[in-house]
Amino acid sequence: MLKSTLSIIASGLFLISSCTTKAKKTEQPMSVHDSHSYAKPEEAVVKHLHLDLNVDFDKKQLSGYAELSIETNGKTNELHLDARDLTIDSVWADGDATTFQLGKQQPYIGSDLSIAIKPTTKKVKVKYSTSPNAAALQWLSPEQTAGGDFPFLFTQSQAVLARTWIPIQDSPGIRFTYSATIKCPANLMAVMSAENDTTLHNDGAYTFKMPQAVPSYLMALAVGNLKFHSYDQRSGVYAEPVTIEKAAYEFEDMPKMIAAAEELYGPYAWGRYDVLVLPPSFPFGGMENPRLTFATPTIIAGDRSLVALVAHELAHSWSGNLVTNATWDDFWLNEGFTVYFETRIMEKIYGKEYADMLTVLSMGDLRTTIKEMGPTNKDSHLYLDLKGRDPDDGMSDIAYEKGRFFLTAIEEAVGRKRWDDFLKKYFAEHAFQSITTTVFIDYLNAELIKGDKALAEKINIDAWVYGPGLPANCPVITSPAIQVAEDAAKSFLSGAKKASEIDSKDWNTHQWISFLRTCPANTSLAQMEELDKAFHFTATNNSEIKCEWLMLVIESKYKQGYPALEDFLCHVGRRKFVKPLYEAMIAKPDGKEMALSIYKKARAGYHPVTTQTLDELLNYKQQ
Ligand code: BES
Ligand code: ZN
Repeated sequence: MLKSTLSIIASGLFLISSCTTKAKKTEQPMSVHDSHSYAKPEEAVVKHLHLDLNVDFDKKQLSGYAELSIETNGKTNELHLDARDLTIDSVWADGDATTFQLGKQQPYIGSDLSIAIKPTTKKVKVKYSTSPNAAALQWLSPEQTAGGDFPFLFTQSQAVLARTWIPIQDSPGIRFTYSATIKCPANLMAVMSAENDTTLHNDGAYTFKMPQAVPSYLMALAVGNLKFHSYDQRSGVYAEPVTIEKAAYEFEDMPKMIAAAEELYGPYAWGRYDVLVLPPSFPFGGMENPRLTFATPTIIAGDRSLVALVAHELAHSWSGNLVTNATWDDFWLNEGFTVYFETRIMEKIYGKEYADMLTVLSMGDLRTTIKEMGPTNKDSHLYLDLKGRDPDDGMSDIAYEKGRFFLTAIEEAVGRKRWDDFLKKYFAEHAFQSITTTVFIDYLNAELIKGDKALAEKINIDAWVYGPGLPANCPVITSPAIQVAEDAAKSFLSGAKKASEIDSKDWNTHQWISFLRTCPANTSLAQMEELDKAFHFTATNNSEIKCEWLMLVIESKYKQGYPALEDFLCHVGRRKFVKPLYEAMIAKPDGKEMALSIYKKARAGYHPVTTQTLDELLNYKQQ
């Protein structure tokens, strides 16, 4: 595949990046067409956003103002914003009422909100409100929270959902600073992906400032009954009061992680780094909202075994938040770099054996994904073509794991020292910029490969980025600990060993995961019973182990596990868990009924991101 297929438009030069108080000013001239946004930044581009919003739990509505400071090309009479399911009340340009048009709403991308401005306009103010089913927002009743006494609201803006709660240029190539005034019910705390003061305000009024320019998909707000636990001067964790102690214990290595990350690729650029533990309906494992990672409570296992997710979201503070994919076709620049960086943080803190164990498990996932995609599927290229599709479709193991193994292959080719020096410089020189795949490749050629033909051949950029599947130079990682678990599973399955004879007292979560993954779909009911009796899988509180076990419960029709399956699906909304479980159910001859009967009970508790996926999967129509 040739680079000429890239949707890069060379004309219409404009400045995409912005500066901050802390970071050095780096302005990068470039123009990239983002097929998932109506914005025309080469005509008029948002530089600062001020939000003034009221949070109404009864109406499930945010309402108020978005005030946009813009820069025009001095010619245009229109500002184009993205909007989806928003009610636009009125609009002003530099204080005067102005006209606007809301185009026809399209799936995923919503409408073009075109506002009449003058070539000299500096400020555009939009009075608006959100819809109760805005896809970025989940409004939880008190019963849907851990504490049960107060309602909860959180946003999830990536990839193109910010436009369902803010009228904005919703493209990862456009960065702006922001400030906000949020009014919520007294007793509740509001936090944002911005400077937070960590305390409860009795009047429910909060102000925020985000002095560093960020793309819209990093806009985030949460409101709930929250407590804060501090680790040190720059990091801590927020959670509901009933969860805060467990959360504080689980993430105690956070300061170490930040230090390790800084040692690797340079200073943390965002001031504070905190984690917010959300209710279990949060559709993702984590979301790298700047200064405040949003995380699922399902990583609280009690033994810190699932904290790689925090390393991952923290790593995004460099790969993603500092150097950002310019379009969703370049998604691997965010996620592949982040998985690579995450693994380096894990290795630094917990050792190479531990990191390799996680990598081997991920490689298994990647191989499965590639097999399912088939040998010529273009979705297995790192550089994607998501035009006309939901950018969510790009969220596969390809961007994450193929991306990571590409970077690991380069590391193997040039050696760690040279590679780390390169990466450190890459982050520093592209800080606060949104870049395309070609910008990265050009930089790689200029700074690392430097015309060395043998090296270029060895790395084989084109095969990785514009070709399918896994190139021949894909690194091979092994893990003795994972091998032990797989071997034990095989001896058990062949009848050579009873479950009670497996020496598993020192096994960790990841060994259990690989043990269960080695058990095939046709594990017999007698074997399932024996396993459950020996290892109490049905009763486990470790979400990753539970999900693997429940897959087997479905495959083998192990009825004793059904109540646990239903209970899990009615309490957890993390898409990575629930989607495969429903998929496994409907793949069974008579499983569709069971899937639908559980889904009917569970659906009201899921986030719009999860219901969108599952409605489609189960062909579910709301009554
Ligand atoms: N940024 C992603 C989450 C995301 C990606 C949301 C695309 C919407 C669209 C986040 O950093 C992430 O990758 N989360 C993973 C966890 C990680 C450890 C692989 C998840 O939620 O599973
Ligand atoms: Zn990520």
